Parts: sequence; structure tokens; C-alpha cells
Amino acid sequence: MLRSLRQGGAWKRGLATSADPAAVPNRVHGGLKDSDRIFQNVYSKYGHDLKSAQKMGDWYKTKEIILKGDKWIIDQMKASGLRGRGGAGFPSGLKWSFMNPPGWEKNAGPRYLVVNADEGEPGTCKDREIIRKDPHKLVEGCLLAGRGMNATAAYIYIRGEFYNETVILQNAINEAYKAGLLGKNACGSGYDFDVYIHRGMGAYVCGEETALIESIEGKAGKPRLKPPFPAGIGLFGRPTTVANVETVSVAPTILRRGGDWFASFGRERNSGTKLFCISGHVNEPCTVEEEMSIPLKELLEKHCGGVKGGWDNLLGVIPGGCSVPVMPKDVCDNVLMDYDALRDVGSGLGTAAVIVMNKQTDIIRAIQRFSAFYKHESCGQCTPCREGTTWLAKMMDRFYKGQATEKEIDMVFELTKEVEGHTICALGDAAAWPIQGLIKSFRPVMVDRINEFNATHPLETHGGWVAGGKVKDGVVVDNPIPAHH
Ligand SMILES: Cc1cc2nc3c(=O)[nH]c(=O)nc-3n(C[C@H](O)[C@H](O)[C@H](O)COP(=O)(O)O)c2cc1C
Ligand code: SF4
Repeated sequence: MLRSLRQGGAWKRGLATSADPAAVPNRVHGGLKDSDRIFQNVYSKYGHDLKSAQKMGDWYKTKEIILKGDKWIIDQMKASGLRGRGGAGFPSGLKWSFMNPPGWEKNAGPRYLVVNADEGEPGTCKDREIIRKDPHKLVEGCLLAGRGMNATAAYIYIRGEFYNETVILQNAINEAYKAGLLGKNACGSGYDFDVYIHRGMGAYVCGEETALIESIEGKAGKPRLKPPFPAGIGLFGRPTTVANVETVSVAPTILRRGGDWFASFGRERNSGTKLFCISGHVNEPCTVEEEMSIPLKELLEKHCGGVKGGWDNLLGVIPGGCSVPVMPKDVCDNVLMDYDALRDVGSGLGTAAVIVMNKQTDIIRAIQRFSAFYKHESCGQCTPCREGTTWLAKMMDRFYKGQATEKEIDMVFELTKEVEGHTICALGDAAAWPIQGLIKSFRPVMVDRINEFNATHPLETHGGWVAGGKVKDGVVVDNPIPAHH
């Protein structure tokens, strides 16, 4: 996961990455051909029924792939270089292999693949597109990923608001059962495998894998402490792997076309094709499958009709959903869209939800809104997150107005550091990073806002609860604590 460190004013990366000059191959990325697109139906050209799916190549030779066995499947996934598309970018083949430690067979009983279809990260709209248009890719993916992990069943945990998507997905599952592709002797392979849908209630934190497991078990969706990891003790106490919808849905095509085919796209360690969801100030917001490592500028100009008002009117881009730091325009000019390149510039690929903001955006307001979101979504289990997100949101409310001192910019940065890395799940980090990005790239805007406020509100000082308070020599005295505090 993104672990950018700000030290001495510079953003440093912890590990060498493929963006190191020596490792960069002399190759241009982007311009994915239609024949290399995994998601053929993103724009609803065909139906989402079984027959249409089969015409697009789904369920082709699935039995033969199952019969190749778990080791072959895991090896192909490792060779593909696929990294989890849920945000953290952990190598999928390796993660799935944790389900099959030596002697796993002795632990008799059910074993689960849990598919994460919660898609709560603001800006992200790719998993729902897969389910709406290409549901059979996901259903077949459950079977094949499940075979690789020696799972007995898959649970697809889907956001409750995705009602229409649930109906489409359930129809696809029903079709697959009816055609003998799922259930006992799936595809005639001798392998038994079931797929169930579980609807969530729309809490962001339920997308976190252990909260999701708790939620399926009927409990409040609160993340578990790790270890034990789900591959050891997961759903209903059994070995479990949680994987994102896109991760699972690309598996059948990878297994049919080969891990090397997938690995031929994108830079080393960042391979494959990827669904990018682009929203905000572009002329044509869209979800598009492209080659990993495509330059951001090309992605926006080729598929989205460019930035509203032109490229020079760009203020900044959040490249991976609202949890990752915003990049200013000068970084956007040349950055590549992959895990390592974005990490090297102090941001992250996250879910590849690209939020574009032009110069008409109030960037402080945008980040303040995210802070309100994280405060609302914190499950409250850990003090740094529960108190920290509330505190951050309150401070961001003041920064938005400019009712602060410049010193408080450093204080709020320090506060984000007290939250980051000190919580059970990464929601705390996600609350901290957007503010860190704001301060790193847009501090002068914050300072201007503060100066403007202080010039127009001479009697209201930083941090003062001024309503009803008395001001003496520019300082609030006898301040009544507001009732809502
Ligand atoms: C607060 C929070 C919310 C998350 N929401 C989602 C989500 O909606 N969908 C998702 O796939 N992963 C989400 N994740 C990441 C999951 O915990 C997990 O890493 C992911 O589902 C693993 O799938 P992958 O290996 O295919 O990436 C979230 C993580 C956190 C900390
Ligand atoms: S970090 Fe926040 S959301 Fe995650 S477990 Fe702690 S309190 Fe809950």
C-alpha cells in the first residue's frame, strides 16, 4: 500500500521501483487494441446474458482450465504479474497461493473465495460496470479463481445500493447453474463449486476485507485485527481470500490467453490492462480499459475529450480514488498511470479512479468534503481514527473558511501523521493522505485563504469559537463551549 514518507520537505519512496531510470524500458504504453480488451462489453454493445457472454469468449474451455489444477492456475496468475485491483495492489498469484500451504488438504471443510463488490471508494465506478455489462466474466472468474485456491464456494459481497446490478448478477449465476457451469461437477470437470450473493448495507468500511467478512457473518462491519489473516482464519473461521471484482473477472482471460500475454502490457511490476474510471472536469467522463503505465495526459485527452478549459486549465488530479494524495498539474504533465510511477510522485494508483479538477475547483473545499466523508465512515473502533477523523474534519472546516493560522497547517499535518499507520485498518491512512497531499501541493492556497479571512474578520482569531465569545485584543476570551461540541 501507499506508504509515502514526507521527510525534510521531500517525498521519499521506501523501495526501489521500476521507475528507477535503469529499469525503465524504452517503450511507450497506451493505445490498447480492441482485440486486447478483456472487457469487451463495457459500453453495452452486447447483452449480458450467457449466450452473449459465450459469443465474447467467456466460458470457453473452462473445463480444461479447471482440469489443469490449482498449481497451474496459481503459476499463470503469478506469471501474469496481476496486482489486486481493490486498491492495495498486492500480487494476486502470491496472495491466492496462501490458500494452499503444504498440507492444506488435511484441514477438511469449506474454504471460501469472497469477492469484494462493495466499491465504496469515492470516484470509483468500474466493478459495477463489470457486473452490469459483463457479469459472466465475474461468475466464471469465481469458479477459476476458486479452483486455484481450492475453495468450495464464492460469496460475492455486493453493496446494497447496487440493486439492479444484484439482479443482473443473480440472473447470470442462475444461468450458469442451469447450464451446468456451476454447482456439482461444475462444467463437467468433477469439481463442485457454488456461488452466493450477499448484499451489504452500503458502509464504506465494509469494503475492508475483514469488516466485509464480519458483515457476511451477520455482525457489524468492523475490521478485525490481523493476524490471523483470512487465508488462515477467515469467513466462518475457515480459510478465505478476499479479492476485488476486477481482479477476479480478469482471471479467465489471463488463464485462456496466458500469464505472459497479460504481462506483456505495462511496465515491469505494473503489468496488464486496467479499467480506469475518470470523473470530474473532463469533457467526457468515462470508464475505459487501457494498458497500464499509459501517461495520464494521454488517458485524459484520448478517452475523455481532455480537461474542461484545456490542459493548461488543469489544477490537479487525484489518480486513485479519494484516499490518495492529489497531484498538481506539473506532476500530471508527465506521470504514468501505474503503481510505481504514482507512488514515486507521492500519490497512488489505488482503484484507478481518476478525479480531475480544473482551475475552477476550490481544492480546500474538495479535501474538506473528503474529510467529512472519512469522519462519517469511521467505524469508531480505534481511537486515532475515531478521534482523529473528527478532529481533522473540524480543522478542515476551518481551513476551508480560512479561519486558522499558518502554524495550524503544520499542526494538522502532524495530526495526520498521528493517525496514519496507527489504526486497525487503512481507513485511518485514507483520511490522512488527502490532507497531506493538499498541504504538500497547495499550501500557498491555504495560506492565501487564511490571510483573506483574517483581513476580513479582524476580530475572529484562529481556532476561536466566536459565536457568543468575547474578544479582547484580538484574542477570544470567556469562550462558551458550543453545545454541539
Ligand atoms: C476502508 C477500506 C475500504 C475498502 N473498500 C474496498 C472496496 O470497496 N472494494 C475492494 O475491492 N477493496 C476495498 N478495500 C480493499 C480490501 O480490503 C482488499 O484489500 C481488497 O478487496 C483485496 O482485493 P484484491 O487483492 O483483488 O485487490 C478497502 C480497504 C479499506 C481499508
Ligand atoms: S481505522 Fe477507523 S475504520 Fe478502521 S478499524 Fe479503526 S476506527 Fe474502524
